Amino acid sequence: MTMRIPFSLFLIITQKILWANGGCSYNKDLRHCSCSLVDLTNVMSIVSCIQASSLEFQGGRFVDTEEYSLHNVEMEQVLAMIHLPLSKVVFANVVISEEFLFSFLNWVQRIQINMLAFVNTTFEGKSNSQPMVGSPPQILSLQVINGSSYPLFDRVSDFTGLRSWIFKLEELILTKSQLSGIPCNTSRQFKVLSSLDLSENLLQDENVSSSFCQGAFPNIKTLKLHHNYLINFDTICQTLNKENQLKHLDLSRNNLSSAAASLCEWQPSLTLLNLSDTGLKELHHILPRNCEILDLSYNKLYALNLSLPSLRELHLSHNLFTTISSIGIFPLLQILAIDGNPMKTLQRGQLQYFRHMSTVRADNIPYICSCSLVHDINEMTMSSLTFQQWPDGYVCDSPDSLKGQRVSEVELSFFECHKPLLSVLICIVSLLVVVAVVVCIHKFHQSKKTRLQNLQRSNVCNMQFQT
Ligand SMILES: *[C@@H]1O[C@H](CO)[C@@H](O)[C@H](O)[C@H]1NC(C)=O
Ligand SMILES: *[C@@H]1O[C@H](CO)[C@@H](O)[C@H](O)[C@H]1NC(C)=O
Ligand SMILES: *[C@@H]1O[C@H](CO)[C@@H](O)[C@H](O)[C@H]1NC(C)=O
Ligand SMILES: *[C@@H]1O[C@H](CO)[C@@H](O)[C@H](O)[C@H]1NC(C)=O
Ligand SMILES: *[C@@H]1O[C@H](CO)[C@@H](O)[C@H](O)[C@H]1NC(C)=O
Ligand SMILES: *[C@@H]1O[C@H](CO)[C@@H](O)[C@H](O)[C@H]1NC(C)=O
Ligand SMILES: *[C@@H]1O[C@H](CO)[C@@H](O)[C@H](O)[C@H]1NC(C)=O
Repeated sequence: MTMRIPFSLFLIITQKILWANGGCSYNKDLRHCSCSLVDLTNVMSIVSCIQASSLEFQGGRFVDTEEYSLHNVEMEQVLAMIHLPLSKVVFANVVISEEFLFSFLNWVQRIQINMLAFVNTTFEGKSNSQPMVGSPPQILSLQVINGSSYPLFDRVSDFTGLRSWIFKLEELILTKSQLSGIPCNTSRQFKVLSSLDLSENLLQDENVSSSFCQGAFPNIKTLKLHHNYLINFDTICQTLNKENQLKHLDLSRNNLSSAAASLCEWQPSLTLLNLSDTGLKELHHILPRNCEILDLSYNKLYALNLSLPSLRELHLSHNLFTTISSIGIFPLLQILAIDGNPMKTLQRGQLQYFRHMSTVRADNIPYICSCSLVHDINEMTMSSLTFQQWPDGYVCDSPDSLKGQRVSEVELSFFECHKPLLSVLICIVSLLVVVAVVVCIHKFHQSKKTRLQNLQRSNVCNMQFQT
C-alpha cells in the first residue's frame, strides 16, 4: 500500500520527529500503535501508525485549548490518511479537557472506531458545548474505566454537541467511576444501546430504579451491575422486568442476602442470570423461567429445589452442598459446576440423572475415596463426559492412607474393594470347615466305636478259639 504525504506535511513531520519527546511506536504484527505523549508537541509521530488497527495514548495532559488548536490542521491531515476502521482507541492515565475531547472527535469524524476507551482518566473543565461540525463520529462502543469527575452523564443534556453521537452508542461501559445513577432523561435517550456495564460503582437499589425509569434504555439486552450496593432482589426485579429485551443480567457481588422471597416475575427474554457471590443462603425467588445459564456460585446455599426447563448451564461452585441429588428438574442441563462444595462423594447415578450432561466440574471436593467413588469417577472420566480440572483437582481427603492422593492414581487392591464379598466367602469357608471337622470327628468316633466292637468281637472269637 503506497501513501502520499503532502510535501508540506512531510516537512512538518520530519521536523517534529527530530524534536520528538516521547512519541509513538508501531508494532507491525499486532498492528498496534502505542504513543506516550507528554503533550501534543510530538503528536505528528502518529504518522508512523497510519496502518494500525488499535491506538493507545499513554500519559499526558490534553487540556490546553491553544496548544491543540495549533495542531488542528496537522492532526486532521494525518488522521485523514487512516482509512481502515480502528478496532480500539485508548487513552490511559491522562488528564483530558472536554474541549480536547470535542477536538478529538472532530479529528476522527471520518474514521470508524469500534471502541473508544478512557482508562484512569481525569476529565477536566467545562465545555462551551459547541455543536459538532459535520457528521458525528462513527463510534460503536464507549468505555470509561476509573474515570474521575466524569461529567458527561450528569450534564449530558447540556452537551448539544455530544448528544449527536453519544446516544447512538451500542455499548457503554462505565465502571469503577463512583457513579451513583444516570438521570432518567438521559437514560431514555440511549435508544439503540444494547449493552450497558455499570460494574464497580456506587449504585443502590433506588439509583437503579431511577436510572431505569419507564422508557429508559429501550433496546437493552445485556446489563452488568456487578459489585455495587444492591440489596433487594425484589426491587431490582420490579425495576428491570420492564426491559422486555433484556437477555443477560449480572448482579454478582452485591449483598442480596436479606431479601425476603420475591414473587416478581422476570421477562421471558432473560436467559442468563448471574447471582454469584450475593450472600444467598436460600433461594425463594422466582427465577427467569427461560433461564439457560444460572450462576449461583460463591454463596451459602446447601439445598435447591428448582425447575427450569431450558437450563443448560448451572454454576453451584463454592457453596455448602453436601449432595446434588434432588437439586431440581433441569431436562436440558449440559454443564454443571459443583467444585468447592463440602460433598464427600459423587455418585454416577446423580450425574446420569441429567441426560444431556456433557461437562462437569467437581474438583476441590474433600472426597472419601471409597472403592465405589474411585471406580465411578474413573469410569465416568473415560466416558463422553468431560471432567474439568481432571485429574489434578480431584484429590482424596480420606481415608488417611489415601489423603492427598489424586483419585486418578488410587489403586485399591482386589481384597480392599471386595471386603464384604470376601468376608462372606471367609464365613462360608469357615462354616464348611467347621462342618467338615464336625463330620470328621463324628465319623472318627463312629469308626473308633466299630473298631472297638470289632476288636471285642475278635477277642471273643479268639477266646472261643482258644478255649
Ligand atoms: C484510577 O486512576 C487514577 C488516575 O486517574 C490512579 O491514580 C488510580 O491509581 C487509579 N485507580 C485504580 C484502582 O486503577
Ligand atoms: C490504571 O491504573 C492502575 C493503578 O494505578 C494500573 O494498575 C493500571 O495498569 C492502569 N491502567 C492502564 C491501562 O494503564
Ligand atoms: C442514590 O441513592 C441514594 C440512596 O437512596 C441517594 O441518597 C442518592 O442521592 C442517589 N444518587 C443519585 C445520583 O440518584
Ligand atoms: C427532562 O427533560 C425535560 C424535557 O426535555 C425537561 O423539561 C425536564 O426538566 C428534564 N428533567 C430533568 C430531571 O432533568
Ligand atoms: C458471574 O460473575 C462472576 C464475577 O462476579 C464471573 O466470574 C462469572 O464468570 C460470571 N458467570 C457467568 C456464567 O458469566
Ligand atoms: C449483607 O447484608 C446482611 C443483612 O443486610 C448483613 O448482615 C451482612 O453483614 C452483609 N454482608 C456483607 C458481606 O456485607
Ligand atoms: C420442591 O418444590 C415442589 C414444588 O415446586 C414441591 O412440590 C416439593 O415438595 C419440593 N420439594 C422439596 C424437597 O422441598
